[in-house]
Order: sequence, then structure tokens, then C-alpha cells
Amino acid sequence: MFHQLIANILPHLPQSFVWKFSKEYVAGQNIEEAIDNARILNAQSVETTIDVLGEFITFLDQAEANKKEYLELIDKTDSAGLKTSYSIKPTFFGLLLDKEVCKAHIREVVAKAASCGRFVRIDMEDSPCTDMEIAIFRELKQELPDNVGLVIQAYLKRTYSDIESLADLNTPESPVNLRLCKGIYVEPAEIAYKDHDEINKNYLKDLELMLQLKMFPAIATHDRELVEGSYRLLEKYGVGKDQYEFQMLYGVTPALRQSIIDKGHALRVYLPFGADWFGYCTRRLKENPQMVSMAVKALFNKG
Ligand code: FDA
Repeated sequence: MFHQLIANILPHLPQSFVWKFSKEYVAGQNIEEAIDNARILNAQSVETTIDVLGEFITFLDQAEANKKEYLELIDKTDSAGLKTSYSIKPTFFGLLLDKEVCKAHIREVVAKAASCGRFVRIDMEDSPCTDMEIAIFRELKQELPDNVGLVIQAYLKRTYSDIESLADLNTPESPVNLRLCKGIYVEPAEIAYKDHDEINKNYLKDLELMLQLKMFPAIATHDRELVEGSYRLLEKYGVGKDQYEFQMLYGVTPALRQSIIDKGHALRVYLPFGADWFGYCTRRLKENPQMVSMAVKALFNKG
């Protein structure tokens, strides 16, 4: 009730007020601010993956403008010499409006990143997008094997077999690079685990499969139990420090983040920025009001 109330009130509050809370989690409203924040993290030996906020566009011509923003982002971050990759949401390029146009835009972004020796990860959105996003990854992975990765969600019951189905793309020279996260969307119980323990069990099972297949896992979580479980699996399989990385969202659990870095593991921070920060934050909270308590908790407990 309380969560729902806050999530409903938030869109009606002045943006300047909401920004006071959001700036903990959003790396800026424009490219320059995102670059400044990425530079600060790079100076702390933390690499970043930068995301232009926005998703589920309703007119296809927005996709062209969104692609141009990514191309500009790649140019500017490359000129700034940042240690960064990029994360993209296919619905920002019109996945649900025209799959072919979307794919062409994503291909252009990945090709641009590849021309600078950089990497683009395709974020995973809600379940109507899953098959299409895997298909786009599959195609691009064959064209630009070193420059594209995908996200998979441990809450989906299908994920274990999705990992198996990607094994044919995996080679020692260019392992399949998958960010493993729990999943953030509200999905029906027929297709998704709902229970925290069940999701965590599945997360570690998925990670173990990736390690057995010698894929490159990007272990994206702020859950201490999963971080500990991942350490055990990395040790069990004798995984080299350059064969995986941890990932966390900007502003979330910085003390846990630092403890991972202190142990010598690579850690990348996901930096979302952009003009759509307000719409993005309020949409996410409305979809999943439980995030209100996470945001509040993280504000007061930075561990
Ligand atoms: P859990 O939800 O149990 O959180 C553990 C603790 O971390 C919480 O108790 C809280 O303190 C803190 N916390 C977690 N998330 C927080 C937040 N947003 N704000 C404040 N505190 C928070 N999902 C998806 O469906 N598709 C995707 O492409 C991605 N991409 C992605 C990239 C990266 C780098 C990360 C870290 C996460 C994602 N996610 C995602 C989101 C992911 O699916 C998941 O919803 C969140 O990471 C929360 O799950 P945890 O594993 O952190 O555990």
C-alpha cells in the first residue's frame, strides 16, 4: 500500500525535488554529466557501461534520434578515453514497432562501437521481448563476435535452456558474454520464479552452467548471498580473473561494491543517464512498487 502510494505520488512531484533522490541512481541528464561520472569511477579502477535512458518508444522516428544519441555517446566517450562499454534497450530502437528497423539501428551502434574496439550489451526487457532480443544477439554475435553481449534473467524458468541454446556461439577466442541478473519486470508465475530463494537458487545454477560452458559471465547483483555464492563457484571452477566480472547499478550498495574490488575482482558499474530520467524512474516504480523500499533502504544504508 505504502509503496504503491509513493509510486503513484512521485510523478506529480516537481522534477527538481525528485532529482534530489534520483541523482543517487542516475548518472546525469546529459552526456557530459555521464562522462564526468564515468571518469570518477574509472579513477577508482571501476569500468562502466553507459546506458541512455529510454525504452518502449511509440513512434519509429524516435529510434533514429536514439541511435544518433548512442553514436554521439560512443564518439565522445572514446575521445575522452573512458574505460566504458554501452548498454542498450532494443525497445528504445523500436523493437515492438518494427523488428528489422530496430535490428538495423542496433547493428549500426555495435559496428560503431566495434570500430573503436568497444563493446555493446543488449539489455533484456520483459518477456514479450525475450525471443526477439536473443535472436538479435545471435545474429550480431556471428557478425561482430567480440563486440556484443546479452543479458539473461534468473527469474525466468526458460533461462537455463536459453544458456544451453547459446553454447554453439561460444568459442575460446570469443566466449559468449552474458550478464546474469535476477530480472526486474513483473512476469506471470507460469513463466517466472517468484520466490526470493528460488530465484537465487536458479541464479547460481545458471552461473554454474555458464562456467561449465566456459562462457564469460557478468555477475550483476547487489545480493550479498549471490556474491558469496558466485565466489564459491568461481573458485570451484578455477576461473581466471579475466574470465568474468561483477556488475552493479550506479549508486547501489557501494560498500559491497568496494569489498568486491578489494578482493581483486573486476567490477563494472551500469551508468544510466539522459533526458528521460524522470519518466524512466517513475515508470519503473509504478511497475514495481517494491523498488520504493529498495531505493529508500539504499539511501539510508549504503552497505
Ligand atoms: P535484490 O533485489 O535482492 O537486491 C539486493 C539488495 O540490493 C537490496 O536489498 C537493496 O538493498 C539493493 N538494491 C538492489 N537493487 C536496487 C535498486 N535498484 N535501488 C536501490 N537498491 C537496490 N534487469 C533486467 O530485467 N534486465 C536487464 O537488462 C538488467 N540489467 C542490469 C544491469 C546491472 C548491472 C544490474 C546490477 C542489474 C540489472 N538488472 C536488469 C536489474 C536486476 O534484474 C535486478 O532487478 C536488480 O539488480 C536487483 O536484484 P539484486 O540481484 O541486486 O538482488
